[in-house]
Order: sequence, then C-alpha cells, then structure tokens
Amino acid sequence: MLALADFSTHLIAWQRVHGRHDLPWQNTRDPYWIWLSEIMLQQTQVSTVIPYYARFLARFPDVNALAAAPLDDVMALWAGLGYYSRARNLHRCAQAVSAEYGGHFPQTVDELAELPGIGRSTAAAIASFAFGARATILDGNVKRVLARVFGIEGFPGEKRVENTMWTLAESLLPDAAHKDDVTAYTQGLMDLGATLCVRGKPDCARCPFAVDCVANVTGRQRELPAARPKKTVPTRKTWMLVLKSGDTVLLEKRPPTGIWGGLWSLPEAADEAALVAVAHSFGGADALQRLSPLTHTFTHFKLDIEPRLGESRGRLIQAADAETVWAPLADIDSFGLPAPVRKLLNALQGSLI
Ligand code: ADE
Repeated sequence: MLALADFSTHLIAWQRVHGRHDLPWQNTRDPYWIWLSEIMLQQTQVSTVIPYYARFLARFPDVNALAAAPLDDVMALWAGLGYYSRARNLHRCAQAVSAEYGGHFPQTVDELAELPGIGRSTAAAIASFAFGARATILDGNVKRVLARVFGIEGFPGEKRVENTMWTLAESLLPDAAHKDDVTAYTQGLMDLGATLCVRGKPDCARCPFAVDCVANVTGRQRELPAARPKKTVPTRKTWMLVLKSGDTVLLEKRPPTGIWGGLWSLPEAADEAALVAVAHSFGGADALQRLSPLTHTFTHFKLDIEPRLGESRGRLIQAADAETVWAPLADIDSFGLPAPVRKLLNALQGSLI
C-alpha cells in the first residue's frame, strides 16, 4: 500500500526524468503566460494550442495589451479553438487584472478563482506554476489518476466523489515549500494523466505507481474511474390515432414549440377513451384496433406510444383546418414526420394501401 507521503516523492522523481519539460508555457514564472496557457488547455489538446498560443502572445504580449484590445480582435485570434466563452472570459479577466490589480495577477488561489474563467483547479495550476503555491489541481486527468491509484469508486463528476478527491489531492501535496518541487509535482500530475494513465489503454508498465496502483494490481483499469451513470429518464405515455379513410390517413400539424414542433404527426390523446372521442370527431367507428407499441427516447424523457388503427366512414368529414389533413398514404414521405410516426406508418403502409 502506497503511503500518502510517498506519492509526491515518486511523482516528482518521475516527472523530472520522464515528464514534459519543453512546452512553450513551461520554464517561465510569468503568470500571464501561464494563465493564457491554462485557459487554452482547458478543453483543447496541447498540439492544437501551441500555434494559437504563439500568435496570441505575439499580438498581446502582456495582460494590459489584451485588456485594451477590442473583443473582436480577441475573438478573431481565438477562432478555431472552440468553446468561445473562454475567449470572452479571457478578455474580461484581463480587464479585471488590469483595472483591479494594476496589471499584476493576484497570487492566491482564492483571489485567482474569483476572476472570470478561472475555476478552482485552474487557479491552483496558475498559483503553483507562477508563484510556487502549495495548491492542488484536480482536472479530469488528475481524477482518473487518483481513481485508479487509490481505487476511488464512483463517478468523479458526482459532487460527493469529487469532494473526496479534493480532500485526497490536498493531502498528497509535497510538504516542502520548494517552488521547483511544487512545479514538478503539478506538472507531473498533468503529465502522468496525459501520457501514461490515459483513458483507453494506460501504459501501466512504465508507471511509477504500477506496484501500488489499485486499478493495475486488481486489473480494473477499465472500471476506474467509474463511467457517468446512465441517466434514468422519466417515461410518458401517449395514445396515437392512425385513422385512415380510403387511401389517406389523418395528420395534424404540431404546435411550433415543444417536442416535434412544426412537424406533421398523428392525432394524440392521453388515454384510450379520449382517443376514441378524437376518432369519433373525424367519423371514426368505436372499435379501434390495437397496434404494437413503440418507444421513442428523447434526451429528457422516454415516450411510450400506444398506436390505434381506425377507419373513418367515407370522406364526408372534412379536415378541420390547415393544421389537419387527410394525407395520401402514397405521399407520406413528403410530410415532415417524427421518426417513430414515420416508422409506424411505413410499417403499416403495405396493409393500408
Ligand atoms: N493541460 C493543462 N495544463 C497543462 C500544462 N500546463 N501542460 C500540459 N498540459 C496541460
């Protein structure tokens, strides 16, 4: 079992030999350089960031230059990096540092984390790289490393698991207040997660924690960290009427908002009796034939569909308005229909025509 105090020693030793040392934002303590890199690296990989980073620094060499630039210029230089709220926050943050801190980044995690676009982990990265602060990062890569090495169960996106990880990460920090140690430690956490302890196929043979790592020792690399739990979505049920009249079927236009907004669909009701009433109003007989139920999954709920088939007595019943039509079955594909309705009608088409 790995003693907590040994974690940082092993990691620092490993980082010094096997970690990354020549990234453009390393080997500096300039908080502007470090901050810019951390924001760009939040959702974007190193190889994509590098050319953007160089262009940004050439155009905005310090935080005051960035603060004074029009937002449009910042957005133009960011174009292609994605997650554009980062660029807007970057600009706001530069203006705050310029106006509130006289162009000097604050040095504590708490003050840094108050600035736009800087969360707790990014604040710790900046504070440790720029100021040698004894502060821990905890991004997605670090969560994966901790879950595996220490066998932490549960999905790390869940608050309870994340809190456990913050506490553990704090307790793993090297206690020596050597600036270089903190830098190597923070960089080591990032490097291990990015180069060896990767999501798909971790390279455990080269890992400094191989003999102690719970995931490696128990062969659970694929189970740790736990995946995001499948959302259990609520189920709604609806009854749908396939009312035919000769070679046509009754379609209704759905209201412009809500699910399937603006599409053509089958008339619906909340229960079977209500559906019979709808069928009546369009000349349908009492007896509706049960068809096989369908399920359609939306992001936020599941829809169980109970289709019923009926025959309208002749064409004497006019469709009520432009939002209701007797659609020729042969033309059904020219109507914008929700997927399950299309499926239902296509399955029936052979028997209906
Ligand atoms: N990802 C986030 N911060 C990083 C850094 N400083 N170096 C490499 N990858 C990173």
